[in-house]
Amino acid sequence: MIVPAAMAQDVAQNADDSKGQALHQTSCVRCHDHSVYTRSDRKMKSADQLRIRVAFCGQQVNAQWFDDEVDAVTLWLNRSFYKFNK
Ligand code: HEC
Repeated sequence: MIVPAAMAQDVAQNADDSKGQALHQTSCVRCHDHSVYTRSDRKMKSADQLRIRVAFCGQQVNAQWFDDEVDAVTLWLNRSFYKFNK
């Protein structure tokens, strides 16, 4: 996989990020790729909303994630794509 340098650095900064990325890779790329996170009319408007969406999509795939796993994926998505401050 080709990872932009800035993103690779982000991931290296935080173990939670690589955990979130791995969880996402396992459970989340079946229906949509990363482009839904960067499309111009993306639906997520805040970190709170993003976390709710991650938990909801996680239920859809029956991933049965613990809270810290939802947090890790939310964190990784936010750092890599959304960049919400809160
Ligand atoms: C069963 C199919 C399916 C799976 C699997 C799935 N999603 Fe989704 N997801 C969707 C659909 C469909 C949309 C687009 C909904 C829309 O257009 O409003 C979406 C949208 C999203 C969005 C919002 C994108 C935006 O507009 O900002 C996020 C965030 C998201 N998914 C996260 C996840 C995560 C995290 C996982 C893994 C747990 C996951 N999805 C797995 C179907 C799925």
